[in-house]
Amino acid sequence: IKEKAMEEIKSLNNMEELEQARVKFLGKKGELTKVLRGMGKLSKEERPVIGQLANEVRQDIEKELNNTKENFRREIQKRKLEKERIDISIPGKDIVLGHRHPLVKTMEELENIFMNMGFSVVYGPEVETVENNFDELNSPENHPSRDLTDTFYINKNLLLRTHTSPVQIRVMKENKPPLRIVSAGRTFRFDDVDDTHSPMFHQLEGLVVDENITMANLKETINTFIKVLFGEDMHTRFRPHYFPFTEPSAEVDVSCFSCKGKGCDDCNGTGWSMELLGCGMVNPKVLQNCGIDPDKYSGFAFGLGIDRIAMVKYGIDDIRLLFENDMRFLEQF
Ligand code: PHE
Repeated sequence: IKEKAMEEIKSLNNMEELEQARVKFLGKKGELTKVLRGMGKLSKEERPVIGQLANEVRQDIEKELNNTKENFRREIQKRKLEKERIDISIPGKDIVLGHRHPLVKTMEELENIFMNMGFSVVYGPEVETVENNFDELNSPENHPSRDLTDTFYINKNLLLRTHTSPVQIRVMKENKPPLRIVSAGRTFRFDDVDDTHSPMFHQLEGLVVDENITMANLKETINTFIKVLFGEDMHTRFRPHYFPFTEPSAEVDVSCFSCKGKGCDDCNGTGWSMELLGCGMVNPKVLQNCGIDPDKYSGFAFGLGIDRIAMVKYGIDDIRLLFENDMRFLEQF
């Protein structure tokens, strides 16, 4: 049996045949088992001798089967490795890495500047209630900006926010002073598209409410922000203005980006770059609308156009480029 088994095992070709051979020689109905079963017929003296022999044969066959199995396994592994071999000399595929959109980069930069000044960053929805966007901000019922031609209305009560100022209302209604937040995001106004106008644009809103907040705090905050963003040699000019939700209100001009205030063709010789942001002291009526005591607290707010800043920072002369997602444009940043 042993010789026959060894002979057969040598001629095995694969794992299946090996398993069949195992059953044939060692299985319950196998040849060796038959011998062991027949032991009952043997004499007392023969039994241990034959028994031992049969066990030895069993062990030998098992060993040979296992060795063969191991060889097969190695063979399979080798073939698999050869098949899956990677040719490391083939040139690689270029991995195209994406990057942040210049507008997003600008937004993050602005948020970071304010975070470094102790502001928290909050978010507000682009679909707003008429209440938050106009009413609570003390916007008069007949104000032209409420007109259908300026505002995208969704229905009587909902609209696409026309500025980020409704975030002020949300923050003041949900939190108690002291408050110090900025909020950047999309805003919408019905506008014809040209190189400086788009019906979708971006603003960053800022709001500070606490005891003893004054115009001096507002000016210092804006001045610091401008210098960190554009450089120490940039100055600001506050011009009186009107917003229903701030009183007094101002518009802020910044030194001309081309000549830094000396006067050049870009700024018609004035040295100023116009209307970078609107700001003012939070109107006491607005504080009251939000349940904040105007006798105890005061605050300032500002709103600035992010698209303008991105265009100045990255030397982009057409706002439409920011929204068209032309790869030839985006890949430059
Ligand atoms: N919301 C104003 C605008 O869109 C800007 C502004 C914000 C003015 C906060 C004053 C205070 O023009």
